[in-house]
This record gives sequence, C-alpha cells and structure tokens, in this order.
Amino acid sequence: MRYFAQYRAGLGELVIDSLRRDLAGVQVISSDDSSLLFDSRSDRAKVGGLGYLKNAFTVLGSVPRSTPQKAAERFAEQVQTTPMLRGQGRVTSFRTMVSVDGKLVGLPRPAKLRLESAIGKATGARVNARGGAGAEYWVIGRRDLSSMLFCQRLTSGVKQGAAGSLGADLATLLVKASEPAPDDVFLDPFAGSGAIVSARMASAYRRLIYSDLAAGEPQVQILPELRRGKRVTLLTEDALELPSVPTGSVSAIVTDPPWGEYDELDVDLSTFARQMMQSFDRVLDPERGRLVLLVSRRVADVTARLWKTAGLELAQSHELLVNGHPASAQVGARSRRTGDRR
Ligand SMILES: C[S@@+](CC[C@H](N)C(=O)[O-])C[C@H]1O[C@@H](n2cnc3c(N)ncnc32)[C@H](O)[C@@H]1O
Repeated sequence: MRYFAQYRAGLGELVIDSLRRDLAGVQVISSDDSSLLFDSRSDRAKVGGLGYLKNAFTVLGSVPRSTPQKAAERFAEQVQTTPMLRGQGRVTSFRTMVSVDGKLVGLPRPAKLRLESAIGKATGARVNARGGAGAEYWVIGRRDLSSMLFCQRLTSGVKQGAAGSLGADLATLLVKASEPAPDDVFLDPFAGSGAIVSARMASAYRRLIYSDLAAGEPQVQILPELRRGKRVTLLTEDALELPSVPTGSVSAIVTDPPWGEYDELDVDLSTFARQMMQSFDRVLDPERGRLVLLVSRRVADVTARLWKTAGLELAQSHELLVNGHPASAQVGARSRRTGDRR
C-alpha cells in the first residue's frame, strides 16, 4: 500500500530509519525535508499509530501536477468511475482538505462541491466541514512531486512538547534509535521535562531513570506521567557524577545535554563533554550499553571524538533540525556490540 507522511522539517533521516524498523517492506518513493511518499506492506492502522508523524495518509489516487482545482475535478471523476473508495471501512461523515507545499489552501466552491458530491455518492457518507470523528480526504501537492495525490488521512497529529522540551515526535524517534529492549534500564541524565523518558514508557522496560540537576526548579516542569509511572526513578543529580547510579547498571542512555549556546556551563564545552562521556562510560553496561546523544551541530565533532575513549562506537550520525537549529543525533553502542548489531 502507498502512504504519504508529513513530519517536522529536518527529521527525515530519523523518520525513515524508524519507519524501516516499525513497518514491513518500506520502499521510499520520494522525500523532501518534511514529507515522504513510500510503499509498505503494513496496514493503515499500524501506519496511523506511529506517534512521530505529524500526518499520515493512505494514497488513494494520483494525477499529474496541476492546479488544486483541476486536480480536485479529476479526483472527483476518478472517485465516481473507479473503485478507489471501496474497502474504506464504515465512513458516516467526511470532509475534504487541500494542501499545497504544507499549506492549507481553499478550493473554488464548484470544484469543492463536485469532489464532495462524488465522495458522498461513493461512500454514502455526509459532509461534515468541521471534521470531528469523520474521514478526511485530502488533495495534496508538493514542490518535489510531479503528481498531485488524493489521500485519506490516518493520524490526528503529534503532541507538541512544553516550551524548551523536545516534541513527542523527536523524543520518540531518538528512543527508537536506541533499539529499546524489554529488560532495559533506561536513563536520561539531562531529562528536563522528561519528554524522552515519557517516550520510552511506550514500550516495555525494566526501570526508567529520570535525572536533571534542576528538577523541581521553576524552569523544569516534570511531565506528570513520570510521577505516576511504574518503576520510574526521579533523581536530581549532576549528570557528570550520577552518584546513585551504580557502575555498569544502565543498558541505554538517550539524552539531550545542554547545548552550551544558551545554557551556562560551569566549565568549557569540551571539558563538559569529556566529563559527560566519562560518566556515561561508568554507568553504561560494559557489554550491551547503548547511547543516543542529541547535540548541536556545532559541538558534534567534539562529542564524536569522545565516543572511542568512552569505550563506545559511534555507528550513525543523523543531521537534523531542532526548532530550526542544526543538530546531530549520534547513535551507537559498546564497541564490541556494534559489529553484531548492524
Ligand atoms: C537541553 S535541556 C534537555 C531538555 C529535555 N530533553 C526536555 O525535553 O525537556 C538540558 C537539561 O540539562 C539540565 N542540566 C544542565 N546541566 C546539568 C548537569 N550537569 N547535570 C544534570 N542536568 C543538567 C538542564 O537543567 C536542562 O533541563
């Protein structure tokens, strides 16, 4: 089945990596900085349930790129003359939307009515312009696509995080890059709001450890689900020391350390990075420890050089944008394990 997905600009590499892990037989047809056209054998429910996509759609039809009005008219014709809307499950109400290059655009009224009437006849459903629980049929155009797509929407969008915290989509992608296992002891030592720990709660774990030196201070509001979570330990410790985390006890660290741009560090950035990696080396399991580190692109070279001395192998560096800022997600594991994994 063909799908179209939209995600936050700059997350493409991580999204494609995660789709390959989460879905069967993924083949990328085309992609740009914030969207992707792909085929997969996985069903709609599976694709619609992926929390890191802003929007996901099944592609029902396509026509050569044209104005939205012309495309809508041609889709209306296809809906009437082909079985493209069969097998949709029960649809009682629907609305139509048009998006060109990520922006919603209006259709001239006659074209909109024609499309709605064709969909209504084919599905027996009524138009509900306000949306709600009904189906959504979208006409989608993108600069980098030579065709316009007629799609049904599968998702209702990702939750945005609190100010200063990572969005739930990026937190989920970083967690997935750590290849979660049910017996993981998972640590985020610079946890802030706890968005990464919260994302890790979505799949089985042995223990989750949240730690942030400023936990409890006004600028760090811990997500409520962490306080309610089972087997979640909340710490207020210096990530460079982590005194209550035993040596070798952590199977995965996924973290977003201070970027050294706006945050005041007590030491210079390279000393901070060296002490941080020494601390991670101490707490990570010597055999199966994994690390995912989100750093500003500016310091990515500094941290990349430190993996080896911390007994870790940097397997992949994904370049991405975090709220418009160039960043790198560095992904790897204990040196002797990396060879087995990939
Ligand atoms: C970039 S923010 C992390 C944001 C987090 N990913 C989120 O979604 O909210 C870095 C965090 O590291 C914390 N921090 C800074 N220095 C620290 C240290 N030495 N030990 C532990 N936490 C520290 C800050 O309080 C801040 O919350």
